Amino acid sequence: MNNFCERKSPSPSKLNGASRFAIEKLYGWGIRMKRPMTLTIFTGALLMTTLGAIGATPRLGSTIKKSFGKTPDGQPVDLYVLTNISGAEVSITNYGGAVVSLKVPDRSGKLADVVLGYETADGYVNDKSYFGALVGRYGNRIAHAQFVLDGKTYTLAKNNGENSLHGGIKGFNKAVWAAKVLSTKDGQSLELSYLSKDGEEGFPGNLKVKVIYTLTDANALQIEYSAATDKKTVVNLTNHSYFNLAGQSSGNILGHQLMIQADKFTPVDASLIPTGELRDVAGTPFDFRKSTAIGERIDQEDEQLKLGGGYDHNFVLRRAAGVGESLAARVVEPTTGRVLEVWTTEPGVQFYTGNFLDGKTAGKGSMTYPRRAAFCLETQHYPDSPNQPKFPSAVLNPGVRYHTITAYRFSVEK
Ligand code: BGC
Repeated sequence: MNNFCERKSPSPSKLNGASRFAIEKLYGWGIRMKRPMTLTIFTGALLMTTLGAIGATPRLGSTIKKSFGKTPDGQPVDLYVLTNISGAEVSITNYGGAVVSLKVPDRSGKLADVVLGYETADGYVNDKSYFGALVGRYGNRIAHAQFVLDGKTYTLAKNNGENSLHGGIKGFNKAVWAAKVLSTKDGQSLELSYLSKDGEEGFPGNLKVKVIYTLTDANALQIEYSAATDKKTVVNLTNHSYFNLAGQSSGNILGHQLMIQADKFTPVDASLIPTGELRDVAGTPFDFRKSTAIGERIDQEDEQLKLGGGYDHNFVLRRAAGVGESLAARVVEPTTGRVLEVWTTEPGVQFYTGNFLDGKTAGKGSMTYPRRAAFCLETQHYPDSPNQPKFPSAVLNPGVRYHTITAYRFSVEK
């Protein structure tokens, strides 16, 4: 069986210090390295500071922790602000592991927050759009909220018509994760851990999940996902950040230029479940092999665009197996010059153009985000893989480590 996530871990040389440290120390998974690696943890100089007051200015190359509110059952949750040496900044909450804000420079060096989100934990508690969240146990849809493993049928919570979407009613985006700050030579890292219990939302097996976010000094947000189970299960972890490279309050994303490294995509039925076909993008509005404005064809008379209300489809990434991270997509925002490249070890990416945003959600800075105010590039195994034998398998067996890496790399074009 082709189980991409089980067998095709990125090469050790692709892992940064924080990642290796966390995996080895906390899971005891002995990653075999070709050559010894010197791990430098700058404790002391880059120690996390705990600050109560919102608005305290973070130092370059540091991480601070702030209170972010409480869950409905009274658990306190925090916001971690990671700042790299050039001033780029990411804020992440341990509620749902959500990326709350991400500030990167434009071509003149001006920072803007390029992700949609909320100002307090309450926003994330009530959220239905998965802004910035860690999504699991199975990102994307599973048809009829059911799948079979070794002859046994597992029934999941239905939260999207007849289907299961993004892990169910209480997915990983609604969990409080344990957080730990790591400072490494690569940048600032936050490690989040969560135990998804056997039977949670209908999924089998106790699944120990660990996610390490690293804001590198080269302006990349790297996300490393690891998991281990005690029973055969399915896993598909992703991050659901909504990007607008002109800034989160800048209207729609139709003028962004997009390239996706995919010759095929997975067409869907009326409930957005893949039909099983891998269709050529050639000659369709899904051809982003050459950089094209997102809005150029989005309203064309096309059956698939109609079903999605725009783009809401999985692209089959052109990537050689076993080579670590490959470039999946590149987005350029022409007015600011901001560029986002998505690199991943995953075989697919869901390109979603915020078609269900309706301008009613109160986000950061009193913004209400209109339809197509942002796009998502959710790296993943294909939707409904547990029911699609021809898709790369999303099965995880006990004793095998789930391990994937995705990096959102920011730069500018003049
Ligand atoms: C899905 C959309 C969904 C959105 C928010 C995306 O990953 O493909 O259909 O509306 O997430 O839930």
